[in-house]
Amino acid sequence: MKNIVILISGGGSNMAAIVRAAQQQEWARRLDARVAAVISNKADAQGLVFAREHGIATAVLNHKDFDSREAFDAALAQQIDSHEPALVVLAGFMRILTPGFVNHFAGRLLNIHPSLLPAFPGLHTHQRAIEAGCKFAGATVHQVTAELDVGPILDQAVVPVLPEDTPQTLAARVLTQEHIIYPRAVAHFLRHL
Ligand code: GAR
Repeated sequence: MKNIVILISGGGSNMAAIVRAAQQQEWARRLDARVAAVISNKADAQGLVFAREHGIATAVLNHKDFDSREAFDAALAQQIDSHEPALVVLAGFMRILTPGFVNHFAGRLLNIHPSLLPAFPGLHTHQRAIEAGCKFAGATVHQVTAELDVGPILDQAVVPVLPEDTPQTLAARVLTQEHIIYPRAVAHFLRHL
């Protein structure tokens, strides 16, 4: 059994795409892969509802209940470890992780970022892409290393930036592609573990 643990902070549409793929697609059956748990740092994260409705264990660990980033990350790592994951997937998990956490899950920690890395690491990627006059934008699946939005790139998707785009319309176009590349990258990664 290859357990996947997914971390979210909000809508969880990427998590939902991975859950659907793991429940429906042939590669998941062949690899005996399943999403074992969805963990959020926010109790009101919409994605938790979807996860529960799909029979997946959920947990909430509020970072505000901890005195330090290190303490939160240690508790989070313990919670994740209880599911013995082959892979930990960050899907709109809006917390910067400590080097200790990243090292603990080194080689089995993936993230999706809504830009064509190495362009636009950090926040407000779509607004920055529009302001920079980019003709193309996109998303990147990468391995997580201690430095923010920098690890080895596993897959990318490209979309056009249209003249009338707002950050919202561009985000929606990019998100549609994220739902394609993230499950695909997860499958590819697990196949090569
Ligand atoms: C996605 O666009 C993801 O790329 C981005 O947050 C959104 C989450 O949507 N992640 C980051 O910005 C990480 N720095 P979702 O909750 O619907 O998957």
